[in-house]
Amino acid sequence: MKLEHKVAVVTGAGSGIGRATAIRFAAEGASVIVAELNERSGKETEELITESGGKATFVQTDVTSFDAVQNAVNVAVEQHGKLDIMFNNAGTGTKPTSVLDMSIEDYDKTIAVNQYGVFFGIKAAGNAMKEDGGVIINTASIYAFIADRNRISYHASKGAVVSMTKSAAFDLAKYNIRVNAIAPGLIETGIVTDWRNQPEVWEQIERAQMRRKAGQPDDVAKLVTFLASDDASFLNAHVHYVDDGAAAFKR
Ligand SMILES: NC(=O)c1ccc[n+]([C@@H]2O[C@H](COP(=O)([O-])OP(=O)(O)OC[C@H]3O[C@@H](n4cnc5c(N)ncnc54)[C@H](O)[C@@H]3O)[C@@H](O)[C@H]2O)c1
Repeated sequence: MKLEHKVAVVTGAGSGIGRATAIRFAAEGASVIVAELNERSGKETEELITESGGKATFVQTDVTSFDAVQNAVNVAVEQHGKLDIMFNNAGTGTKPTSVLDMSIEDYDKTIAVNQYGVFFGIKAAGNAMKEDGGVIINTASIYAFIADRNRISYHASKGAVVSMTKSAAFDLAKYNIRVNAIAPGLIETGIVTDWRNQPEVWEQIERAQMRRKAGQPDDVAKLVTFLASDDASFLNAHVHYVDDGAAAFKR
């Protein structure tokens, strides 16, 4: 098992990429703190893991609050004596709106979850990992690099995740903490339900992947598990695409 005796916090672990990764981390031997805002889905992930023999604890966490993120990290340290892996993954979409009409409030909401949530996670986890080292992985998006219409707050937040990843990797290298980001393409999760419910829209967006199909949460979980493991011991400060080439070719 690749993560035996490791302790991990996964934010947004109640659904999609976060849930799939929490399940994979636990299957590889890690003890997982399921840090999720939604109590029902967070508890469900905890149960899915414990019922199959893994170790998980749900801690209700709103990543827009530094104290809440710090609390999730504290639970990991109190329960297991350390934190080895932080997956800053919780994220939210944005109501499609032109920059001309986007309200400051809507802009701030996306930034609060997708950007501040990641900053809080890096800060709290980095302090907890200072003695023994560790791994931090942040969920960006191919939308950090390519633009779609009417999504300025989402693009801004994911661009910030990429820059924060590189900056934090510099600051934390002296503590033997690796910091990487992932950039998923279209993955079939709760965040894309609106698109999924409109067949023509879905078909058009799926065509942006080289093999014309959306990915599944576990496609991303496999990459995150690799990055969290010692197999990735020399991988640091980079963004790792998991997009079936969507960001690589001209449409
Ligand atoms: N699905 C895609 O196509 C795709 C592509 C690129 C990047 N991403 C990113 O992947 C990450 C995971 O999203 P997903 O696709 O699994 O969607 P999802 O909606 O299935 O999961 C997101 C989870 O985050 C939780 N969450 C939302 N706000 C929170 C908060 N304030 N505090 C704690 N938890 C909160 C939600 O309750 C949910 O469980 C996000 O950062 C998203 O931006 C997704």
